[in-house]
Amino acid sequence: MTAILPASPLIDPMPEARPEAPIGIFDSGIGGLSVAQELANYLPDEQFVYFADTAHVPYGPRSDQEIRELTARAIEWLYRKGCKVAVVACNTASAFSLDYLREHYGEKFPIIGLVPALKPAVLQTKTGTVAVLATPATFRGKLIKDVMLRFAQPANVKVIPVTSLDLVPFVESGAQMSPVCLQVLKDILQPVVDQNADYLVLGCTHYPFLKPAIHHIFGHKLTLIDSGVAVARQTARILIKNELLFEQSRKDSLRLQCFVSGNNADQLKPVLEHMIQGNISWSIANIAVV
Ligand code: DGL
Repeated sequence: MTAILPASPLIDPMPEARPEAPIGIFDSGIGGLSVAQELANYLPDEQFVYFADTAHVPYGPRSDQEIRELTARAIEWLYRKGCKVAVVACNTASAFSLDYLREHYGEKFPIIGLVPALKPAVLQTKTGTVAVLATPATFRGKLIKDVMLRFAQPANVKVIPVTSLDLVPFVESGAQMSPVCLQVLKDILQPVVDQNADYLVLGCTHYPFLKPAIHHIFGHKLTLIDSGVAVARQTARILIKNELLFEQSRKDSLRLQCFVSGNNADQLKPVLEHMIQGNISWSIANIAVV
């Protein structure tokens, strides 16, 4: 793979961000729609441009540098599309890219990232044992290690890391309730239940779409927790701080424009019809990103 880190900055001078511009959202695939949904609910007057790098999903098995480069390319695309901020709605991409992106774009194009919601799980656990379900790459990154050191370790909470490369493809194909997906979930999560964990942190933005499947297998033995609402709140804070919040009503317009790099918009459309909840008008189109 050739290096794709953009030279700094590609658009010179950088345009001033405006409140009426959309919020950019990026994920390796369509899992980040779990975050887009929370953002759309929390910020009802904002519009969103969502980029899913479905040509390269999953990112989980890729090397640190590959993830960094693919992420940089995606964020540059959102920037050129005229977005006012970018939300890296992917734990795997965030784990390796936030420092670089923030340094690259500076204050004029704020970057919001995410980290598995381990902190609230640590604060709320009754059994003193929690599990984190995330990609192998996310566990290699320093963000999750920092949260473990700062919160779990001092509180003496045991953290069980759980990983699987099978889950993201199930979500991408809308097959979360298929027998084979249910079996994978049972195999990887039964040991967590057996070890008396009471909280399961969904440390990948694809995994909130697995909630019905996990409840189907385990009932409410595990409390599921993700970062979606926290990211939406953080995005609102950043918009307010940068005077970029759009406060006029535009409820009738297209709220969420989705673009996919894998030439698979037609296959994904019925999957998104099940994923996107509520009264959010959306579209999906193929896009070639170079
Ligand atoms: N949604 C990504 C995350 O939050 C998925 C990872 C992948 O593409 O493997 O980690």
